[in-house]
Amino acid sequence: MKLQIKNNVSWVGKVDWELRKFHGNELSTHRGSTYNSYLIEEEKIAVIDTAWAPFAKEYVANLGNVIDLKKIDYVIANHAEIDHSGALPELMSCIPGTPIYCSANGIKSLKGHYHQDWNFHAVKTGERLSLGKKELIFIEAPMLHWPDSMFCYLTGDNILFSNDAFGQHYASEFRFNDLVDQEELMAEAIKYYANILTPFSTFVDKKIKEVLSFKLPVDIICTSHGVIWRDNPLQIVEQYVKWANKYKENQITIVYDTMWNGTRIMAEKIAYGITQADQKVNVKLYNIAKSDKNDVITEIFKSKAILVGSPTINRGILTAVAGLLEEIKGMRFQDKKAAAFGCYGWSGESVKVISQSLESAGFQVVDGGVMSFWNPDSKSIENCIEYGKKVAGLFN
Ligand code: FEO
Repeated sequence: MKLQIKNNVSWVGKVDWELRKFHGNELSTHRGSTYNSYLIEEEKIAVIDTAWAPFAKEYVANLGNVIDLKKIDYVIANHAEIDHSGALPELMSCIPGTPIYCSANGIKSLKGHYHQDWNFHAVKTGERLSLGKKELIFIEAPMLHWPDSMFCYLTGDNILFSNDAFGQHYASEFRFNDLVDQEELMAEAIKYYANILTPFSTFVDKKIKEVLSFKLPVDIICTSHGVIWRDNPLQIVEQYVKWANKYKENQITIVYDTMWNGTRIMAEKIAYGITQADQKVNVKLYNIAKSDKNDVITEIFKSKAILVGSPTINRGILTAVAGLLEEIKGMRFQDKKAAAFGCYGWSGESVKVISQSLESAGFQVVDGGVMSFWNPDSKSIENCIEYGKKVAGLFN
C-alpha cells in the first residue's frame, strides 16, 4: 500500500494508533503517531527513512508489495533514531549492498545501533544525489533534534523531507494537514516542539534562517511523524520561528504536589490572588502527581511565568515535583519568570529547594516565595492571596 504525495513521490510508512508512550516512557503520545517513510520513483529509486523496529517486517513486506526491493537504488537515512531506522536491518538484509546516504554522525549512530558495516555514504549540506531529472539536496540539521539529523530536498517537486522537525505525534488515516482537525493538529505540534525541540531552540532558529537563505521553493514539507504539510506548508515554519524565540503567552502555570491538601489550598489561593490583580492572565493549575508530565511541560512552554509548590518532606520536596524540576532543567526554557511555595510543619526547606532548582533551570526567580506553617489558616490564606496579587505584577 502506498499513497501518492506528488508525482512519483509516495508515502510508504506506518500509522501507529496504539502508541501511548515514546522515547521509552518519557513522552506521552495520547493520539498515537506515525513513522513516515517515502518512496521516490524517478529514473533512480530512493527510499527515505523506514519505520520503528516492531513494525520492521510489516514495513518491508509492504514496501516489497509496492516495489521490487531489488530496484531500490538508494536508501536515505535522515536520522538514525530507531523510530526511523528500526526497519533498516530487515530492509538491508534484502538489499545488502544498496548505498545508505546519511550524515557522518548518522553513520556513527547507525553503526552504534546495529553494528553493521552497510554501504554508507556520508553527505554534507549542499551535496546532491541525482535521481535522473530530479535531484536530492542534503541539508545537515544537527540538534534538530539529534547530532546526526538531516533534511533532504527534492528538486522539481519542491518537497522538503524534514524528518523530526515540524512533526507531530498524531495518528490519522488522513496524511495531509488540510484534512485533519486543526485544533488537534496544532495541539500536537506545539506539544512536540515544547517537549522535544525546546532545548535546541537556538539551533532551530539558525537552521530555519539558513534553509530560507537557500531560497528553495517549498511546496510540501514531508515530516517523519504525523501529517504532511501541503496546505500552506510554511505555516509550521513560521510557528517554529515563533516557538524558538522566547515564546510565551499571557499565561501563568501553577504546578504543585500536596500531601494533606495544604499546598493545594495555597496553589488555589495564589491563583485567586493573581486573578484579582490581573483579569486578563490565563492561570492554570496542575497537580503534577496527577497530571501528564508532557502536557504540563507544554503548558509551561506557553507560560510567561510559573509557580511551583511542594510541602517539605525529609528536608526536601515531593518526588513528583522533583521529577518535573529535573525534566525542565534540561529544557532550557528562555525568558520565563518563576516563584515557589509550599507548606511545612517542621524544618521547611521546600521553597528554598524549589527556588534553587528553578534558578539552575534558567528561570528568573522573582522573590523568596511563600510558605505556610502547617495547614493554611485564615491568616495564611490571606497571605497567599496577597502573594498572588504581588506576583501578578512581578510576572509582567
Ligand atoms: Fe522521530 Fe528523533 O526520532
